[in-house]
Amino acid sequence: MINVAILGYGTVGSGVYEVINTNNDIVSKKAGDKVNIKYVLDLREFPGDPVMDVLVHDYDVILNDPEVEVVAEVMGGVEPAYTFVKAALMKGKSVCTSNKELVAKHGPELIEIAREHNRNFFFEASCGGGIPIIRPLVECITADDVLEITGILNGTTNYILSKMSREGLGFDEVLKEAQELGYAERNPAADVEGFDACRKIAILASLTYGKNVDFEQIYTEGITKITDVDFKYANKLGYSVKLFGKARKVAGKFYAYVAPVMIDASHPLYSVNDVFNGIMVKGNVLGDVMFYGSGAGKLPTASAVVSDVVDAIRHLNDNVYIEWSSDNLELTDIKESEKKFFVRMKGNADSDKAAVEAAFGAVEVLTLDDVEGEFAFVTSTITEAKYDEAASGLDNIITRIRIE
Ligand code: HSE
Repeated sequence: MINVAILGYGTVGSGVYEVINTNNDIVSKKAGDKVNIKYVLDLREFPGDPVMDVLVHDYDVILNDPEVEVVAEVMGGVEPAYTFVKAALMKGKSVCTSNKELVAKHGPELIEIAREHNRNFFFEASCGGGIPIIRPLVECITADDVLEITGILNGTTNYILSKMSREGLGFDEVLKEAQELGYAERNPAADVEGFDACRKIAILASLTYGKNVDFEQIYTEGITKITDVDFKYANKLGYSVKLFGKARKVAGKFYAYVAPVMIDASHPLYSVNDVFNGIMVKGNVLGDVMFYGSGAGKLPTASAVVSDVVDAIRHLNDNVYIEWSSDNLELTDIKESEKKFFVRMKGNADSDKAAVEAAFGAVEVLTLDDVEGEFAFVTSTITEAKYDEAASGLDNIITRIRIE
């Protein structure tokens, strides 16, 4: 029998407890040994819940019990998760976590400590919820020079954007509804400002390139400025608007960003809607490979955590090598990267087109029948720096969205 402890009995923690118990026969067979939840750590009481039989409030009980082989950390946040996880690894226990803040900030150090103790630090659930993406990157896509990794990595914002697109509603209205449905947190900044997606693309890029991608160096723009009028233009152009986290290698330089982008129907991520996530990896020999599924939620996320628990049991005294050094990968300024831009401007398409073309060169102009006093245009492919320079000469720009 292998004893497991779960740190945190919130949404994901109760899911991990449920998956290990409900699917115990399957999970134990896959692990090659009976999986037993010996402890669940939480400060709260849960009267009437069977978890009370294994609930503890003091982390030291878990830490000092040599029978606990695997710890599933599903508390979220950097502290006390970091202190708890580090202590467990130092005691020679394997750790599985869904905690993207922890992994993005301390991933290389925790991987190294696990290696020194011949144990494992696994984090499949930290990106893409229930979608297998970490293990494929670490163990499967190992023959390629990965040129691009592009993801819709945040379920909340994808839900908001999908609903705005379908129903023509404004951002605030849809956010409120997402909060009422329990998709968005009461403080939704981490999702809608792009910080959550930023940590996830930092983790994926670090694993892809083997060096630490510092999430604080990644250009990050959220979806709070996207409006119903942007979607009217997008629909007219045949585009959808998605929040992308993207890392790319071009001519030996590395770029990463998080931002809303317009994509057309030929893009493989175009049809990833609602709370789903999608991740596309482009390898120089593999070509494109796509991962799609439930990117958030109690049971999908728990499924990924428990799959890590199974893997940790399979490799109990055998470190699975994960290449993610603490050396920072140098990211090139986004200003050097090239793309087309969709731009909305106050004014009149006929009388202002000359000024726009003087700044940007030839552009494709469009207007909406039901929106007056403004028009939009699409630039040719230019660098971000060139966009900034051209835009600085025009007073009336309302917004701009990158096109991928
Ligand atoms: N808030 C996150 C999301 C949860 O909406 O994707 C999963 O990491």
